[in-house]
Amino acid sequence: IRHLVGLQGVSESDIRTILDTAVEFRQLLERPVKKVPSLRGLTIVNLFFENSTRTRTSFELAEKRLSADIVNFSSSSSSVKKGETLLDTLRNIESMKIDVVVVRHKGTGVPQFIADHSNAIVLNAGDGAHEHPTQALLDMFTIEQKLGKLKGKKIAIVGDIRHSRVARSDSWGMTTLGASVTLCGPSTLLPRYRADFPNVSWETDVKKAVAGADAVIALRLQKERMEDSLLPSLREYRNYFGVTEEVLDKAKDSALIMHPGPINRGVELDSDVADGEHSVILAQVTNGVAVRMSALYLLSGGRANG
Ligand code: CP
Repeated sequence: IRHLVGLQGVSESDIRTILDTAVEFRQLLERPVKKVPSLRGLTIVNLFFENSTRTRTSFELAEKRLSADIVNFSSSSSSVKKGETLLDTLRNIESMKIDVVVVRHKGTGVPQFIADHSNAIVLNAGDGAHEHPTQALLDMFTIEQKLGKLKGKKIAIVGDIRHSRVARSDSWGMTTLGASVTLCGPSTLLPRYRADFPNVSWETDVKKAVAGADAVIALRLQKERMEDSLLPSLREYRNYFGVTEEVLDKAKDSALIMHPGPINRGVELDSDVADGEHSVILAQVTNGVAVRMSALYLLSGGRANG
């Protein structure tokens, strides 16, 4: 693959290569000196048109650990605020001789649009409710790090599936690696159009969804992408769909608790679960740097130092 705009259609062997390469970068992160010269001479721009804590910091650290030159672009302090279009913004930035674009945008398809209109290698850092491929890769990496290969594992994803790019990318990536994925949420927050999901199961009863699960991924209510009429009462949501100790009684005893962040504590996830012994939420964040190093390294192969 030349770009990483999504996991839909990405082969098992390409996903496996990214995850296997990430194992080596994850080991590197434990060393006193965490930097390698792999991408020396490569210029990367991080184009963030939406807020981010984890993804932005993680990409930036990954790029620095690989010795790339980096430029950070934030739409809130850019000429986008003066009305400049996405295409004009892109053309101007590309004129400064950029090799790689990492982009987050509220619009579905923006990473593909950039890939179609530039010579840069493009990595999607989240586009609307469409895909968040590096989040899915770090989720897969974390599950395999803790439990072994994903093949045959049962994964429950609970929350606002309809507006979640993480649910889409996780579903594509995990089913490609042979896991069975159940998506669960209130019927109003399940997607009406399901053709862009792979072969997954659908559930509106959280206890049924997590029954026998090896990992439970809780998702945030994406209020920023939601019509007001869809927003449930938070108390009601917590009572029916919150991932609590009582709900987790149905999962495997060893089930991992995951969340892409940011967490709304006491809504989709209780604090004792988020901070409990089965939580791997911070391991997900650590692994994100290694996975992004791997994706950047593999996609940029041959461009660096050349
Ligand atoms: N998981 C994730 O995308 O978090 P941020 O929005 O903080 O980047």
